[in-house]
Amino acid sequence: MRLILLGPPGAGKGTQAQRLVQKYGIVQLSTGEMLRAAVAAQTPIGLQAKDIMASGSLVPDEMVISIISDRLDQPDMKNGFILDGFPRTVPQAEALDDLLKRKHIRLDAVVELRVNESALLNRVETRVAEMRARGEEVRVDDTPEVLSKRLASYRSLTEPLIHYYSERRKLLTVDGMMTIEHVTREINRILAAIGAVEPVIKKAA
Ligand code: AP5
Repeated sequence: MRLILLGPPGAGKGTQAQRLVQKYGIVQLSTGEMLRAAVAAQTPIGLQAKDIMASGSLVPDEMVISIISDRLDQPDMKNGFILDGFPRTVPQAEALDDLLKRKHIRLDAVVELRVNESALLNRVETRVAEMRARGEEVRVDDTPEVLSKRLASYRSLTEPLIHYYSERRKLLTVDGMMTIEHVTREINRILAAIGAVEPVIKKAA
C-alpha cells in the first residue's frame, strides 16, 4: 500500500498513520518528525529548518523533496509506505510524481482528513495540556499564534493539493470529525473499496 495522508495541523494524520502502520506493517514517513529529529540532532538541515518550523512556515521544497527521495531508496520501503505531511505544496507533489514514476511505484490513494477549524484548535490545545501533564516537552509550534500561521500555510499552499489529486482520481475524503476509531474504520473501508487492502469480513454470530 502506498498512501498519502493529507489534512491540516491537528487533523489526525500522525494518529491514523500509526494505526495503519500497526495494521499493515508498512512504513510511516512523517516529514515533520524527520525535521524535528534533525533539529534535535542539530544537523545542517535541522539548523536551517529550526526557525522556519518555529514560525509556522513551511521549509523549502528542495529540503523535504531530498529527504523523501533518499528515504524512498531504502529497502524497508518495498512493502509500502504512508506519507504523513508530504507533499504539502504543488511543486512537492509534482516532484513526488516524478520520483515515483522513475522508481516504477504506483500511488494507491491520497486520503484527505477533513476537520473543522475549531476542532483543530481544541485538539492541539488538548495535546499540549496532555504533554504538559506527562512532563513532556511541548512542540514549539503548538502555540495559538503559530498554529494560526500553520493553518494559513495549509490553506494557501497545501489545500490546492485537494484539487491536484482529485483531478488525478487519487483523492478519497474522510470525515475526520469522528472518533479516532471511527476514522480508522472509515479509512480501512475506503482502502478496501479501491482494492488497496483486503476487505474486513465480519464473522457470522
Ligand atoms: P508536522 O509535524 O507535519 O505537523 P502538522 O501537519 O502541523 O500536523 P500535526 O502533527 O500537528 O497534526 P496531525 O494531523 O499529525 O494530528 P495528530 O495525529 O498529531 O509539520 C510541522 C512543521 O514541519 C510544519 O509546520 C513545517 O514547518 C515543517 N514541515 C513538515 N513537513 C513539511 C513539508 N512537506 N514541507 C515543508 N515543511 C514541512 O493529532 C493531533 C491531536 O489530536 C493529538 O493529540 C491526537 O490524539 C488528537 N486526535 C487525532 N485524531 C482525533 C480524533 N479523530 N478525535 C479527537 N482527537 C483526535
